[in-house]
Amino acid sequence: VPPSPPGPPSFTGPKLVDDRAHPFRAAGRNDIRGPCPGLNTLASHGYLPRDGVATPAQIVTAVQEGFNMENSAARFTTYAAHLVDGNPITDLLSIGGKTRKTGPDPPAPAIVGGISNHGTFEGDASMTRGDDFFGDNHSFNQTLFDQMKDFSNRFGGGFYNLTVASELRHERIQQSIATNPNLSLFGLRHITVFAEAAFPVNLFVDGRRTAPGEAQHMSMDAAEAFFKNMKFPRGFFRASKPSSSEGVDVIFGAHPILPGRNTGSVNSFTTDDSLGGILDFCKFYTEFVNTTVRGLYPNPTGTLRRNLNLNLDFFYGSVASSGCPQIFPYGRD
Ligand code: HEM
Ligand code: MG
Repeated sequence: VPPSPPGPPSFTGPKLVDDRAHPFRAAGRNDIRGPCPGLNTLASHGYLPRDGVATPAQIVTAVQEGFNMENSAARFTTYAAHLVDGNPITDLLSIGGKTRKTGPDPPAPAIVGGISNHGTFEGDASMTRGDDFFGDNHSFNQTLFDQMKDFSNRFGGGFYNLTVASELRHERIQQSIATNPNLSLFGLRHITVFAEAAFPVNLFVDGRRTAPGEAQHMSMDAAEAFFKNMKFPRGFFRASKPSSSEGVDVIFGAHPILPGRNTGSVNSFTTDDSLGGILDFCKFYTEFVNTTVRGLYPNPTGTLRRNLNLNLDFFYGSVASSGCPQIFPYGRD
């Protein structure tokens, strides 16, 4: 039976996380890495299993321990990913591509593709990864990283801050609209595309460097460590307080793009709010459960149904404070 999600840790201040108990080791041949610089780094330091396959409970614990990610944000992100990309029977999720290490798959149309699977959680217009349409949606992309550095120079005096995040986020979306006929940016992706631009400002900044009220910014050395090398900067201290996507309102507000997609040709971006988005969170929640999860698991029975219901409950636990009514697509146990 999948265990309940871990609560917040007892100590939530800054601390050395690049410590002796968590030495960096580069991923080996059989170790999986993917599109998330946060999870990649945690695996390379042993906060997550180094092979890149973990339970949701391990992921929540690791993002709190290693980055001081705030508990409800950790649960939201983890269970959203697990519901669409993980194996609900074995309770395992790959932080990269599909793997036999997550165990036997439930019946199709379930995918269990790991977090690199395009279109479930992973999506277009990432800052340092290319769009799936161009063939690789998960590897570090030097050209895109150079663009991040260029924007940090132009808008942040050499650092990545909320202004840089706002402008780079917008530019990446415009690039995808202009070059990717399949660009998709609605539902969950309309939320994560903005939230992930805020993460570096809050979570990739050394926790000793944040005076109260001081604007936070990521150095380019830190950026290279996390995004490219999947490694803590030497002697890194995690965030000074539980954090996640603080400032996302600033990033979205700077260039508020509605949820939508290109309709098979470039520059055909059309609004599509059928799965909600950042402006309609409860619609997102409702459609994520009723359309996205049900689309993958139309008729679960037995252990599969029980575990889906548990994971849907755990996910709803991170949504409840938004006041959205809970959805029970498979009935209540
Ligand atoms: C991107 C999953 C936690 C930082 C992503 C992506 C996935 C993902 C699937 C790819 C989305 C895309 O760009 O297409 C998760 C899950 C987490 C988690 C399941 C569990 C809580 C974290 C943490 C951090 C982080 C703790 C920072 C410390 C980022 C950043 C990106 C990203 C900055 C954007 C990368 C880019 O645009 O190039 N994450 N993540 N994530 N994640 Fe995570
Ligand atoms: Mg992506």
